[in-house]
Amino acid sequence: VTVRGSGANAGRILLLGRGGQLGWELQRALAPLADVVAVGREAIDLADLARLRARVEAFRPTLIVNAAAYTAVDRAEDDEAAATVVNGTAPGLLAESAARLGVPLVHFSTDYVFDGRGPDGARRPYRETDAVAPINAYGRSKLAGEVAIRQVCGSHMIFRTAWVYANRGRNFLGTMLRLGSERTELAVVADQIGSPTWARVLAEATAQILVAAGWHRSGRATPGVSGVYHLASAGETSWHGFAEAIFAHVAARGAVVPRLAAIMSADYPTRAKRPLWSVLDGTKSAAAFGIALPDWRAGLALCLAER
Ligand SMILES: NC(=O)c1ccc[n+]([C@@H]2O[C@H](COP(=O)([O-])OP(=O)(O)OC[C@H]3O[C@@H](n4cnc5c(N)ncnc54)[C@H](OP(=O)(O)O)[C@@H]3O)[C@@H](O)[C@H]2O)c1
Repeated sequence: VTVRGSGANAGRILLLGRGGQLGWELQRALAPLADVVAVGREAIDLADLARLRARVEAFRPTLIVNAAAYTAVDRAEDDEAAATVVNGTAPGLLAESAARLGVPLVHFSTDYVFDGRGPDGARRPYRETDAVAPINAYGRSKLAGEVAIRQVCGSHMIFRTAWVYANRGRNFLGTMLRLGSERTELAVVADQIGSPTWARVLAEATAQILVAAGWHRSGRATPGVSGVYHLASAGETSWHGFAEAIFAHVAARGAVVPRLAAIMSADYPTRAKRPLWSVLDGTKSAAAFGIALPDWRAGLALCLAER
């Protein structure tokens, strides 16, 4: 799918992962900035390492945006090699292609690179400079991708985000709305704390940062802004708190909602361990670009208003 942008110096953005929650929203958010070539797995498969370079470079992009990833956190525990190819090795090859073409790479990573004990054991939001220590295979694979991109030393931005949801795709919001219509009581984990982030807000913030950095224009990449940025909603809650907020909106429309029980992670065993605290500090992108995401409740209200 190619969406034509307009204007002088119009760039050509190659967007990978067009069918994902974030990729879908990025197609819209990037469209006014440049020509956007949005591709899915059938055009560029990140697991097909042998062909990745040729496939990517054939598009002659002026910017590569990678919204594709192996995101099945529990499945990754039994499939770490495959997750690592897609999340760890392929992003490094994308960075090499970007460097060969002399263009920047934009990539997304996760709050799950942290162990969830809080920076230095304190419950304050994680900064980009805080020590990473993933506790599951998905987190390890995403961290490998960050490292691989950094090692290439080309122009890049890596946006670590968290708890992404949207009105399409598989995510917590969709699961709650489905289960809430089927059951009278739901037990939801209350001891994992993070920041639910609507994919659209994340996509729009990404587009605005690219404009602020001039990276949407052909030949205008400023390498000085390269690095990792935390880009998740402001504020924090638990999955239980997120569910309460979702059902408060549903109830306000007059629909019947389930009773919510707060449970501990230990009462809801999953294949992969999750960090208990993964709130991200957005100060760096606010200072560098004047862009910070609003409180998670604001994103949720806007997202649900579309349903
Ligand atoms: N979802 C979250 O809660 C969350 C939290 C923190 C960070 N992130 C990060 O945010 C980014 C976007 O995530 P998302 O929520 O939009 O994910 P998503 O909805 O699961 O979408 C992932 C996309 O990647 C594609 N993909 C998977 N394997 C691929 C491969 N081998 N080759 C090409 N494409 C492949 C999928 O295509 P198919 O449909 O063909 O499988 C899908 O379109 C990712 O980097 C993710 O790690 C997500």
